[in-house]
Amino acid sequence: MSALAIQGLSKRFGGGVAVDDVSLEIGRGELHALIGPNGAGKTTLIHLLSGAIGPDAGSVRLDGRDVTALPMHRRVARGLARSFQITGLFPKFSAIENVALAVQARGGRHFGCWRAIADDDELERDARAVLSEIDLAERADMRVDALAHGERRQLEVGLALAAGATDLLLDEPRPAWARAKANAWWPC
Ligand SMILES: Nc1ncnc2c1ncn2[C@@H]1O[C@H](COP(=O)(O)OP(=O)(O)OP(=O)(O)O)[C@@H](O)[C@H]1O
Ligand SMILES: [Mg+2]
Repeated sequence: MSALAIQGLSKRFGGGVAVDDVSLEIGRGELHALIGPNGAGKTTLIHLLSGAIGPDAGSVRLDGRDVTALPMHRRVARGLARSFQITGLFPKFSAIENVALAVQARGGRHFGCWRAIADDDELERDARAVLSEIDLAERADMRVDALAHGERRQLEVGLALAAGATDLLLDEPRPAWARAKANAWWPC
């Protein structure tokens, strides 16, 4: 069974067709790249897969279950996470604080907004493990707005992993880094 299967997916904006009758299947452990010129519809397709927007036609199935009508957070709970072409990080928070928020969201752990991460050993350990996984352990305490652009892209992958994702949709990640890491995570 495919991890992700889409059938006849289409999306129009006004008079223009951004995504036109796209069908594809992606198996567990597979790595695919979607390429096309500016405006080809790549980001729109990721929006449709992640549930950020709904399609005009077609369906999205995750592990065989139809999720076309599910909002984004329900798809995340089923293991589908995404990164954004323009990053969706909290710029004034440190790298580890950003990861900790995603770790807390996983599995219904309560948000301890007013507690320092250092007061929660388990949370700090989990967040540091994610930062090591994405090669950013040494940047843990730096504010996101002080990180290099490529490091922010890495951090976005970390947020997806911290949320417990088994399927990642990456919109313009750092190509070489993402490819190397993906091969390590999902050896084909
Ligand atoms: N919210 C929107 N409202 C209207 N038109 C939109 C909207 N989002 C995207 N479009 C249009 O849909 C088409 C596909 O855009 P999209 O951003 O998906 O392309 P892309 O392949 O990601 O491009 P890029 O390589 O520049 O990131 C473009 O013509 C774009 O102008
Ligand atoms: Mg795009």
